[in-house]
Amino acid sequence: MITIGNIQLQGFPLLLAPMEDVSDPPFRAVCKENGADLMYTEFISSEGLIRDAIKSRKKLDIYDYEKPIGIQIFGGDEDSLAMAAKIVDVTNPDLLDINFGCPVKKVACKGAGAGVLKDIDLMVRLTDAVVKSTNLPVTVKTRLGWDEQTKNIEEVAERLQDVGIKALAIHGRTRSQMYKGEADWSLIAKVKNNPRIHIPIFGNGDIDSPQKTVEYKNRYGVDGIMIGRAAIGYPWIFREIHHYMRTGELLPSPTVEERVEVSKNHLRKSVEWKGLVVGINEMRRHYSNYLKGLPGIKEFRNRLVTLKEVEEVEAVLDEVQQHYQGFEVERAPIVLENYHEHCAV
Ligand SMILES: Cc1cc2nc3c(=O)[nH]c(=O)nc-3n(C[C@H](O)[C@H](O)[C@H](O)COP(=O)(O)O)c2cc1C
Repeated sequence: MITIGNIQLQGFPLLLAPMEDVSDPPFRAVCKENGADLMYTEFISSEGLIRDAIKSRKKLDIYDYEKPIGIQIFGGDEDSLAMAAKIVDVTNPDLLDINFGCPVKKVACKGAGAGVLKDIDLMVRLTDAVVKSTNLPVTVKTRLGWDEQTKNIEEVAERLQDVGIKALAIHGRTRSQMYKGEADWSLIAKVKNNPRIHIPIFGNGDIDSPQKTVEYKNRYGVDGIMIGRAAIGYPWIFREIHHYMRTGELLPSPTVEERVEVSKNHLRKSVEWKGLVVGINEMRRHYSNYLKGLPGIKEFRNRLVTLKEVEEVEAVLDEVQQHYQGFEVERAPIVLENYHEHCAV
């Protein structure tokens, strides 16, 4: 069992990574239904929370069925982070995560996100300020270091543990790498194997299959694995990994019924949370992923992306279900996209 403050996670936990513009409540709902053990919000600007910016406040929305859930904040200033932590407190998540990994310029070069990796003393002060201003368990998500020459994650892990963080998630890349190359998990394993480290260490980077999860779990000995891009358009990854860990067998690809069901659930939640117009519009990018592999689906998809009412979309999804009833979608490898330009940690 893995313990983070008061949270107890059974077995080998699979975490849904925080992802800006992706891991919102509708997306989290379908990941939760498919077995994500611990989830995080998108990252939230501490300055935005203090200014009461609508976008930042909206990201604080969390629901009971999502528990355990963490809220992630970022910022480069002790007072702002401490104030933001107090604001987060009121929403009563299970944990508060600090982002020290976002590599995009507008965040990292203002001294927040991965920018803090250049200055460990500052990182420690920021973390300490957050820990002292909240009763929630505080966790951190970060990268190996700023660049190839400054992979300081071993020191970072010890010092952040010393100021009281309760878990650390490490993306096996430096800030300079953005998403290039392969994530290097050997340093994550070094942190995990450091006898001084007693908090859970979660590995992150490039996990895209049940087999890779088990291979990395065994090879690197981490306490759990965090999954980002592989879950986009494929929330079934969580249940597939859990099943494979339990039985050693691969589940067949999701059925057409399941694909339609996830599309409907995601749509419903999207409209509930974002309102009709935005909810329907933002949902459009998801259909091709959820219905991928069905021959001739383009014709249905072209219709789905023009509709403006929930009932109309649901009716086309019902047609899809009938049209492809019993069709077995072949298992295809998940493609991890490069999001270099996007804010991603
Ligand atoms: C679209 C996108 C948005 C992201 N936004 C965040 C974020 O808000 N906070 C964060 O800590 N990481 C963010 N990340 C990084 C992921 O949490 C994760 O560390 C990274 O994608 C590597 O994991 P993966 O190979 O499983 O995708 C983002 C990644 C992507 C692809």
